[in-house]
This record gives sequence, structure tokens and C-alpha cells, in this order.
Amino acid sequence: MSKSRPNGKFTRARLRHALFTRGADKLLGGRLLERHLEDQIEVHTHDVSIPNWPEEFDGIRIGHLTDLHLGDLMPRARVDETLALLSEQDVDLIAFTGDAVDLECAGVEHFFESLAAVPAPLGHYLVLGNHDYLDDGEAVARAAREAGITVLLDEMITVQGEGERPLRVGGVDWAKRLPDCTEKVQLINGDEDQLCDLLLSHNPKSFIEAARLGVPLTLAGHTHGGQVAIKGRPDRNLAVAHRLSAGFYERSGSVLFVSTGVGAWFPLRVHCPPEIAVLEVRRGDWSDPIEDAVN
Ligand SMILES: [Fe+2]
Repeated sequence: MSKSRPNGKFTRARLRHALFTRGADKLLGGRLLERHLEDQIEVHTHDVSIPNWPEEFDGIRIGHLTDLHLGDLMPRARVDETLALLSEQDVDLIAFTGDAVDLECAGVEHFFESLAAVPAPLGHYLVLGNHDYLDDGEAVARAAREAGITVLLDEMITVQGEGERPLRVGGVDWAKRLPDCTEKVQLINGDEDQLCDLLLSHNPKSFIEAARLGVPLTLAGHTHGGQVAIKGRPDRNLAVAHRLSAGFYERSGSVLFVSTGVGAWFPLRVHCPPEIAVLEVRRGDWSDPIEDAVN
């Protein structure tokens, strides 16, 4: 991992921000940003049954947060609102799947410190996303670690619960291309009896290899669910470059959940509300999860 700024990606991202966020907002007399920040953050709770989920962690509640994009579209007050909502969910473990920041990483310390303060007895885990690397990926990872969050850079760790067998949690560092995601997933996972139980990856493409190996559950973000979707069909959306763009996917008993994220990179979401996801995971036969509650 190396500091990536200054580089073309950062410059392009700044230009994109100037056009689609500040420029568009100016054209509309400041209403675009204002309306975007009024969008209610929803908590989506899902009961998920997965055949090879470890019995010792049956019923675990995982708080999944992704794509915060700290910046103009995610000011500090909205960060605090997000984490207050997450705090009410009584989760056992918190997974953050990348893009803590939108552009500059200044101020990310507040987010990580507040995230680490949300009770989660089995810990707080994070992988980095493409936006985290625009300014200074090392600084983002360092701030997370200093706050007490476990940063997973192509590695797997074990988390001890009350039972004998620990939970194996792995994390894929940011990669754009499918072959790179595949290689990283192979690197993280050990032998067949030492696979991750839970894999975090900013890019949902990691699921292709994770499912082939038999990893029970992968959590991802990155797509934002296209931010604009057809009403009632979150998987039919503007993220046309992504086949795995929103919600649940199952392959041979392995499950992927792609959260549409709580933040945004342009100030508009249509039929794709800002989301905090809570997954209550059990060992059992797969069936399409039912959303329990939206608040
Ligand atoms: Fe993102």
C-alpha cells in the first residue's frame, strides 16, 4: 500500500466532484445538496440462513456499513446520525466495507473513533475502497487502527466467541479487476477446512472466487446500488457496469450481500435510500432473506 496522491485518479475525482456535486448544486441554487442531506437513512434488517455457517456463531448480528464517502455529501452531523442509528441495533460485530472518505482523508479520525465506540463485542473490521486510496490510503488505514478498528489488508484473522471454534474473518484490499480480486481471495483463504466464514471486500467481484471456494458469507459495497433504481427493484439500477449490484446473491450455498451504502458520490438517490444493513446470520438452508424492518 502506498500513498497515491498526487495522481491522475485524485485529480479526476476532484473534477468529478466539482462538476457533479458543487457545480450541479450551484446550478440548482443550493437545493440539490440540501435535499440530498434530508434523505432519511434507513436500517434494513435481514434474517439470513447459510448452510455452512459455523454453529458457534448461529444468530450473530452483523452490522454492515459501507461507502460513507465522508465529505460534502456526508458531513459530520450525518456521520453522527448514521452511527447513532447503528448503535441502536445491538450488533455483535461491525463490518465496514470501504470508501470511508470521498476525496481528502482529513477528518476521518472522527468517523473511526465514533465507529469504534459503537458497541460490538466481537469487534470492528474494515477493508479499504477505491476512494480511500485517492488521497492517502495509508493515513486512512492508520486512523482506523489507532481508533481500535481491525484493518484487513488481504488477510484473515480469527475472532474468539463463546464456543471453541473461532470465527474466521477475512478482508480483501481494494482491487478493481476480477483477476486481481480472485487472486486476493485465494491468497486470504487457507485450506478447505480453513476458509473464511465471513469475507469483506469493497468490490463485489470477490464473490465469484469466494463462492467457488465455498466461503459462506461475503459482504461488499462499491456499487451504491447505482444510486438510481427502478421502484421496488433495487437490483435494476444505474450500476450497469456491475452484475452484482445490490442485495443478496447465492451460489452453491455461498452468499453475497451488496449494500447500497450510506453515502453517495453524487447528490441524488432515487428508490435507493441510504442504507445501514443488519444481517442476523444462522446456519440453515438458504432461502431468500426477508427484510424484517425498515426504520
Ligand atoms: Fe463508494
